[in-house]
Parts: sequence; C-alpha cells; structure tokens
Amino acid sequence: MLAKKDANFDVLELFRDKKLVKTCAPMVRYSKLQFRNLVKLYDCDLAFTPMILADSFRLSDKARRNEFTTNSLDAPLIAQFAANAPRDFVAAARLAAPFCDGADLNCGCPQRWAKDRQLGCEMLKRPESICDIIKQCRNRIAKPFTVSVKMRLLNDDRQTVEVCRRLERAGVSFLTVHGRTSSQLVGEINREALKLARENCDVPVIANGGATSLEDCIELSEYTGCRGIMVANGILSNPTMFSGSSRTTIDCVQNWLDICYNSTISLDNYERERRKSVVGAIKEKPFNLTFQVFHHHLVFMLEKLLPRNRRRVFNNLKTFSEVLEFLQDHFHIKPRLFELDLFLKYNNITTDYADIDTSCLDNSEIREGHGKFFTDKINESNDDDDVDCCGWSNIFLENG
Ligand SMILES: Cc1cc2nc3c(=O)[nH]c(=O)nc-3n(C[C@H](O)[C@H](O)[C@H](O)COP(=O)(O)O)c2cc1C
Repeated sequence: MLAKKDANFDVLELFRDKKLVKTCAPMVRYSKLQFRNLVKLYDCDLAFTPMILADSFRLSDKARRNEFTTNSLDAPLIAQFAANAPRDFVAAARLAAPFCDGADLNCGCPQRWAKDRQLGCEMLKRPESICDIIKQCRNRIAKPFTVSVKMRLLNDDRQTVEVCRRLERAGVSFLTVHGRTSSQLVGEINREALKLARENCDVPVIANGGATSLEDCIELSEYTGCRGIMVANGILSNPTMFSGSSRTTIDCVQNWLDICYNSTISLDNYERERRKSVVGAIKEKPFNLTFQVFHHHLVFMLEKLLPRNRRRVFNNLKTFSEVLEFLQDHFHIKPRLFELDLFLKYNNITTDYADIDTSCLDNSEIREGHGKFFTDKINESNDDDDVDCCGWSNIFLENG
C-alpha cells in the first residue's frame, strides 16, 4: 500500500512564500516518481505527475498502481488527470488525495485521440463543463488540497481572460497557462497574453512555455508577473536547471543512477542483493521502472555532455548493464547501491508497495516502443537542429 501522508502540503503557501515557484511540468512517460525525486534535489518547488486518465484511475486498481506511485521525498505533488465529467475527476482526485497535495485537470492536450474523447484542450470549448468539474471537486475535498487547471491560450486574448475568470469563480486554486493556442504547437509563446491572464486573475498563475534556463524562468516571471514558471523540455535536458546550472552535471547523473537503483530493490531483498554486490544488479524489468524510462532520461541529460559519435553509441544501448558500463568508462561513476542512507531515502517506493502482488500486473500492456517524443528528439539532435519544443503531442497514445 502507498504510505498515506499525515496532511496535505499547502501548495498555495509556496506562492505566498516564494518569489518564483519553479515547477516541473506534467510529462507523460517522464515526470514519474524517480524523475520527480531527482528534480527535487535541484531546487524544484513543485512537481506534477504525468497526465492520468481519470476514468481508468477511478475504475481500475491496476491503472492506479501502474500510473501513480509516490514516496516521502515526493512533495509537494500535484496529480494531473484528463477528464470530461465531474464523476471521473472527483473520484480520481479523492482516491489520490491522501498521497498528493492537489489535483489538476488537463485542458491542454492537443492530441487527436484526446480531442475525440472530449478531453484535454477540447474542454476549453466547454468552459461550463470545466467549471462544473472544479466546483464539484472543491466541494468534495477540503482545503488545503488544491484543485487546479492546466490550459492553453484561446485564439482571442479576451476569451482566455474570460475563461480564467470563470475558473476562478468556480473555485480553482491556481492556474497553469501554456503560452500557445491549441493550433500552435511550436514557435514563440505569447508572453503578452500570459501577462494579460495574470493581470486579470486573483489566483496564482503559472506561466509555461519555452524556458530552458533559470534566467529564462526569472525573465518570463518578471515580464508576465506570474509567480510560477513551469518547464517540460528544458528540465528533461537539464534536471539541474532550476538550481542555476546551465547543463546537466555529472553529479546529477550520479543522483539519477542512485535514485533508480535504490528505488527498485525491496527492503526484503536489500541484504540478499548487497551480498551479491554486482553492478548489473538492477532487474531488466524492475517494477515501476522500465529500461526505456531509465535510458531515455539519460539520453536527454547527456545530450550536451557527449560528443556526437559517443551520443550515437549511448542512444542505442539496450540494457541496464550496457548503460552502466558506458557511464563507468566515460564518467567514472556507478550507482551507489549499498549505502544505507541513500537506500533508505529512495527505496520507499517499494516499501510503499510492499503489499502489492506485482505478478498480477500484466506487463504485456507496458508498451516497449520508444515513443514519438523520444524518436523525434533523437533524430533532431542527431541532425544538431533545435528540438521541437512541443513535439510531445503524439506520445499520449503510446502510454495508453
Ligand atoms: C514528453 C512530454 C510529455 C508531456 N506530457 C504532458 C502531460 O502529461 N500533461 C500536460 O498537461 N502536458 C504535457 N506536456 C506538455 C508540457 O507540460 C508543457 O506544457 C509543454 O511541453 C511546453 O513547455 P516547455 O516549453 O517547457 O516544454 C508534455 C510535454 C512533453 C515534452
């Protein structure tokens, strides 16, 4: 079972206390527990889970266990759901509420399948439905648990402001606004529109889009007046960016190894594994950490640390052991696997789930394809071009 929190963290306090609330974006496939633990080491104030389909989460125990894990380092945390009906969102938020600090409604996903299901940005066509969902959720879950919305700009700035105000009246705790419309997947964000939205809202607004360094975040915050800045692509490439570092540090790669490795050994197996003490000790299919997630994050992080020919080799590695060997050869690092303090810090994931019989998980449903986001990113970085900052729009399909 997941360990319940004693009390929800008051996310709104962050906006009262901090000049800038540095936020890790919801990212399907990528903003999972291990990555959230990593960015928290580098000045990230607030993190979102990947988007979770609220109806599956409500109806299926298996979906809950697959889609949502947490541990004591993982706070403050917002669980993001895609929903088009109060019943699904409210139930999902209530189920998740003992383990996180707020629930967010995805009103930004521009993907066709989401639109066909009246989810994501399609919801912005029906602000009354969003308001209904927010109102009902607010009435059912006590504060300080937050109820928020992540949205995109509408075609007309006045419409954007109008929707923000309606959501505010419905009881939203804060808003995240991505600075592009549903039809603009790439290109400059509209900073003026973000500023206008901020000026017309009393609730905190998190601005999102295009920031790849701490300086970018500060500048966007100062320009728009938004107290929060959310980052997706930038923090994948450099999880240390909120701490001011301009590129991923070796120390960050070391922490990634430590988190991944320590989080996949159960307390029961710790002694047994310790005696083995071999580098490849991580299982090739550990619960809740696929090789692909482990490797993809490293591929993003090492993009600027490796010369092109080495990058090609690294990007094509296929097993945990190959990756470890490569990292040992190039950076002289390996997972600090049997240092008790690290183990106790990160291993909560498996102790949290100690009661769950993982044999009932049908791993055949975990798709092993690389995903469009990863493939595009790698192709583009091989060409040494700029990375498409919104190329994520097709990846939802691959995550079911
Ligand atoms: C790999 C990836 C996955 C994403 N998944 C989600 C998601 O689950 N929910 C969501 O609201 N936005 C999602 N997004 C969009 C980001 O949260 C963000 O709005 C967008 O990437 C723009 O921010 P950026 O310029 O900092 O990348 C995703 C983006 C990426 C790159």
